[in-house]
Amino acid sequence: MENNWRIWNKDDKVEMRTYLRATGELPEMESAKQLVEIMRPFYNNEMTVLDFGCAAGHYYNSVKRLNKDVKYTGADPTKKYIEFANTNFKGTSAKFKDADLFDDKNDLGLFDFVYCCNVILHLPDFRVPLRNLVSRTKKYCIIRTLISDTTLLAKYLYSDDFDANGNPTNFVYQNTYSEKLLKSFVQSLGNYKVSFIDDKFDLTQINQEHKDFDKTQQTGVTLVQDNKQIVGNLIFNWKWMLIEKI
Ligand SMILES: C[S@@+](CC[C@H](N)C(=O)[O-])C[C@H]1O[C@@H](n2cnc3c(N)ncnc32)[C@H](O)[C@@H]1O
Repeated sequence: MENNWRIWNKDDKVEMRTYLRATGELPEMESAKQLVEIMRPFYNNEMTVLDFGCAAGHYYNSVKRLNKDVKYTGADPTKKYIEFANTNFKGTSAKFKDADLFDDKNDLGLFDFVYCCNVILHLPDFRVPLRNLVSRTKKYCIIRTLISDTTLLAKYLYSDDFDANGNPTNFVYQNTYSEKLLKSFVQSLGNYKVSFIDDKFDLTQINQEHKDFDKTQQTGVTLVQDNKQIVGNLIFNWKWMLIEKI
């Protein structure tokens, strides 16, 4: 598989807000707040938690509210994020590992909770990553990505450069998958209950970040209008998929 979609290796600053959230210089993300509320009814202090695609590990600050000694592992293939997280969260209950959703042979092990927020939309395919997430799950797997009634595959071009076959060379995926497709894929993997949860957010905070960061981030920063989350020229239809092992 070509790797030109791995924008984080080219420039880790595409997620510059992850560093600021990890250190507490920026407020908690709306999705991190909702994740904690989705986990709360199921969580107990013995449970282990895997945050796949954790960037600089800022969700640790949020899941810690469930338990200050939460057994948390963050995993991400972007080395700069993992190095930063290991330094920033040194001495806490968090561990961070270099791991990739396309590598289902790595030795991360199994976890009671596995979650993956805001990652699947940016990958060239959802099937190996989703199988990888589900196969590491003992009880609950939670995914936040773009989900709608129909599938829409999109590429945001950082520059208008194309190869000889007409394929863009400098882009990030912003893919939306249908509920039906995701649910039937997960159920083909085994005995799972799949449900979808609407995204909740405080538009004031999102629109404040849009104001502060939209000029410095090329793909655009979310703006809420008419209760729709808009990034650049696309509506981002965020939803949560809760997968329970039965
Ligand atoms: C948009 S950020 C989301 C970070 C964090 N989960 C959040 O919600 O703020 C996407 C993250 O996915 C990671 N990522 C990219 N490709 C990945 C892969 N193949 N496996 C796991 N994580 C990946 C990137 O390094 C980056 O940290």
